[in-house]
Amino acid sequence: MCGIFGYIGKDKKPASLILEGLKSLEYRGYDSWGIVVISNGILKRERHVGKIGEAKTVLPQTTTGMGHTRWATHGGVTVINAHPHFDCSEKFAVIHNGIIENERALRRALIKKGHKFSSQTDTETIVHLLEEVSKNNKKNNLSLVDQVRLATSKLEGAFAIGVIDRDRPEESVLARFGGPLVVGITDGYKLFASDPTALLPFTKNVIYLKDREIAWITPNKVEIRSFENHLKRSKIHVLDWDVEESKKGGYPHFMLKEIMEQPLSLTDTMRGRIRDGGLVKLGGLESVKEQLRDIDFIRFIACGTASYAGLYGASVIQELTSVTADVEIASEFNYGSFNWPDRSAAWFISQSGETADVLKAVDRVKREKILSLGLVNMVGSSTAQATTAGVYLHAGPEIGVASTKVFTSQMISLLMIACWLAQLRGEGEKSRQVAKQMALLSKLLSAVLNSRQVLKEIARELVSKSQIFFLGRGRNYPLALEGALKLREVAYIDTVGMPTGELKHGAIAAMDKDRPAIIFAPSDGMEMKNRSSVQELKARDIPVYVMTDKSGRKKFTDVADRMFVIPDVHPILQPILLAPIVQILAYEAGVLLDRSIDKPRNLAKSVTVE
Ligand code: F6R
Repeated sequence: MCGIFGYIGKDKKPASLILEGLKSLEYRGYDSWGIVVISNGILKRERHVGKIGEAKTVLPQTTTGMGHTRWATHGGVTVINAHPHFDCSEKFAVIHNGIIENERALRRALIKKGHKFSSQTDTETIVHLLEEVSKNNKKNNLSLVDQVRLATSKLEGAFAIGVIDRDRPEESVLARFGGPLVVGITDGYKLFASDPTALLPFTKNVIYLKDREIAWITPNKVEIRSFENHLKRSKIHVLDWDVEESKKGGYPHFMLKEIMEQPLSLTDTMRGRIRDGGLVKLGGLESVKEQLRDIDFIRFIACGTASYAGLYGASVIQELTSVTADVEIASEFNYGSFNWPDRSAAWFISQSGETADVLKAVDRVKREKILSLGLVNMVGSSTAQATTAGVYLHAGPEIGVASTKVFTSQMISLLMIACWLAQLRGEGEKSRQVAKQMALLSKLLSAVLNSRQVLKEIARELVSKSQIFFLGRGRNYPLALEGALKLREVAYIDTVGMPTGELKHGAIAAMDKDRPAIIFAPSDGMEMKNRSSVQELKARDIPVYVMTDKSGRKKFTDVADRMFVIPDVHPILQPILLAPIVQILAYEAGVLLDRSIDKPRNLAKSVTVE
């Protein structure tokens, strides 16, 4: 999620070159940044909050250095939390992408040993660990690689780190376990980055570091070893992207990239939060635990896609706990009359955290002295700051205007919140079973994404239709709304999203051959009801596309015009596996109709006006 860029050598102007590298990573939308260089045996650093923009560096242009653009996870968006981080003696500097899960235990142990922490970041534990290793091995004359190996062996979680040592001005060490790292090969100096995009202006020759590998880099050499200290052969890849293309990871649009990276973003959202035995841990809610133990009512407040995730959240909270939950659209909430029973909480869901309607609703709720909580992607955003406590999505930056990977991260977070609440209140038996199943999601989601071709063919049939009806029941009803919104905003096709059971109460009058239905009908106990709905549509010559699962497919083979089948999964997780369907349909339809995929007309990523 964060951006990393480093330079090893002395011929170029390192500080300016690193700054250029960081600028080219900024498309990901970062919240703070920093650079360190080695100057006459001293680490010189600058750190800033906000975008890099047109910034110029004030650092001396001496030798090796590295920089970082931060997407905050542990600790707010402040200069002190920005990377690079130093140890107490300012010998080592570390930059890090990832999350250290045993950060609290490590920090406690290091503080006991006398280390002084200056930030709230998990990253700072790495650099103090390194200092500890160095102190304990003074006589052994360990290489920087060996010291990094010993220090990282204590880490749990995910990390891609860059390390420099003020006493070794012409070397750097990288270690990778979970986050991307690429080394750029040129004559006379070397580079490294978290994303090959940033290397492209300088070189097309790169070495991708694999998980559990450590790289030792000097101006003329790159040596790669495993965590177990075995020398590895490093293959040089030649990049054949142009710079613009590469930011999208080889995909033609950010929207497609973000759809396809959902197995990873879901893993990031769940990382460290589901413990053995299905126990859910949400550190951001610790401070309001006692209030939530006795809560009777939760009202989710959000806009657009986030409000549909909220509908799913309300339904799973009611399924797994005795808490009553509902959803209000922020713009409606702001001007309506709403009662709050005793022991209520308002929970704001927002990718950007900057949506004006949501912020206005936060204000109102706070004035009414209701507990206000957030479910936000952008760390340190206005909603995150204005709410009393909350949960971050950790889905990574979403660039495409149409929300995709954030929608699934919102759903899985809401499910974790429901499980956490159930466990907190002693209602957790079912929730533990559900939480254990969540571990399977990423793999199953990859299987759904691999069947993209089938959805592309369906999209080809849809683009010529006058109107499309998305139908769903229960937990899958929010998908009908999201499907209608996605196709409307990306492909500009007229759509309707509604509960399947409402068809006969009006809508079916407007449907015909040119106005087909897409129905979400996995095996969730409603198969026979859904089959009847499909038959009613077919009896009127209305085409029906059935989105079901492996167990459900036999109920529809004789009635559906076409089917798309997802793998079997616990019914409560079905909407998360079905979600990419609506995203891919919208994407493919948009491409076929030559729409502006990443920036649909009249829309903005962050709606900061009412
Ligand atoms: C649709 C979409 C929007 C947002 C809505 C709320 O694809 O992205 O409907 O969900 O504008 O935005 P956030 O979540 O930033 O508050």
